[in-house]
Amino acid sequence: MKIEINKVSLSIQQGIQLTEILKGVSLGVHSGSIHALLGPSGSGKSTLLYAINRLREIQQGEITLDGKDIRKINVYELRRRIGLVMQKPIFFPGTVGENILYGPNLWVKDKSALTDPRYYLEMVRLDPNWVSRDPNTLSGGQQQRVSLARTLANNSEILLLDEPTSALDAQACEHLETLITSLCTERKLTVIWVTHDVLQAKRIAQDVTLLYQGRSVEHGDAMHFFSGPRTDEGRTYLAGKLGERS
Ligand SMILES: Nc1ncnc2c1ncn2[C@@H]1O[C@H](COP(=O)(O)OP(=O)(O)OP(=O)(O)O)[C@@H](O)[C@H]1O
Ligand SMILES: [Mg+2]
Repeated sequence: MKIEINKVSLSIQQGIQLTEILKGVSLGVHSGSIHALLGPSGSGKSTLLYAINRLREIQQGEITLDGKDIRKINVYELRRRIGLVMQKPIFFPGTVGENILYGPNLWVKDKSALTDPRYYLEMVRLDPNWVSRDPNTLSGGQQQRVSLARTLANNSEILLLDEPTSALDAQACEHLETLITSLCTERKLTVIWVTHDVLQAKRIAQDVTLLYQGRSVEHGDAMHFFSGPRTDEGRTYLAGKLGERS
């Protein structure tokens, strides 16, 4: 599934003040590829992911899936097709297993056809016996993986991953990179992966967008970006010097 983001602007009202968070952001994500979304803290990466699955509404521009405006797709259907792994996961009340089956329970009519949630826990290398645990009793990295397992159980066509490895150790991180890369190839998943880790982006991504202060300042092929960014912001970012307010 191809995603096009075309001149998207999004403002958030805070009291009497309206702050423009995204300012004419444009980028395209090829079907079956991993697109790394980079940028300093506060540049609008999470907000852009929220806009794509309509947790936030855009005021200008357009976001399309295979050419269709996302506002013309039923929002529940949209969120089933676009899985979001949030930076700080939020769980429904209930066990790990109930959280994983929450989505499938809504749309699988024959309950005997539901996949055992242990299968998804094994996929993300968590103890399958944790199905009966309260997810809020897990560590940050474990919660991130339960959140990913829940998204995988939904059979989404698009994954929006917001720093999914920020709380993982090197081994768990490597496993997750391999898992997502192979799912991408096998199931033709389209992935937007937010990361602050430039080496990770180099390992996983075919394309890259650099967001800076709400603007998409550079966008294109990952190899080209990492070997020779075209913009001052791109060069400054790769030198590790593009700050929140510089
Ligand atoms: N609910 C909100 N109300 C007001 N401002 C907000 C809100 N959510 C985000 N912002 C502002 O929007 C900007 C972008 O935030 P966002 O969370 O999208 O950044 P980010 O690139 O994901 O940063 P990080 O790398 O730290 O996660 C920030 O300046 C932030 O303060
Ligand atoms: Mg964020």
